[in-house]
Amino acid sequence: MVVKERRTFLGVCLGALFAAGAGAIAYPVFRYLAPRHEAGNNSKVEIPESELTAGNAKYFEYQGKAAVLIRRNNGALVALSAVCTHLGCVVQWQKEKEEFLCPCHAGLFTADGTVISGPPPKPLEKLSFVVANGKVIIG
Ligand code: FES
Repeated sequence: MVVKERRTFLGVCLGALFAAGAGAIAYPVFRYLAPRHEAGNNSKVEIPESELTAGNAKYFEYQGKAAVLIRRNNGALVALSAVCTHLGCVVQWQKEKEEFLCPCHAGLFTADGTVISGPPPKPLEKLSFVVANGKVIIG
């Protein structure tokens, strides 16, 4: 009788140990493979207007990807995805020319994201924004 209870107890302990070990392995694998939950994270980005002087760009992360807000020399604000539409490199703001240059294959875009030259098949994605209380709110 005592032997049977010991075996049952050991079986329960081994089962619990196996379950804990399987969970310790499965959880990181699940976290790696599961899609990122980005909706609530970075769904809106606020940038103080004071951080944007004429001709300059402010890079930030939007929905897990590189994005950029620029104030053109004429004062207009433009918010774009900074991810090149060719193979996904991050475009660089060329302040003097008011253009974006992709460092990977020399794709060239205007300040509003239109393709000027190079391999990018389409313009940079425009991001919607509003300006309120001295902040630019993207998204
Ligand atoms: S990745 Fe930008 S031009 Fe190729």
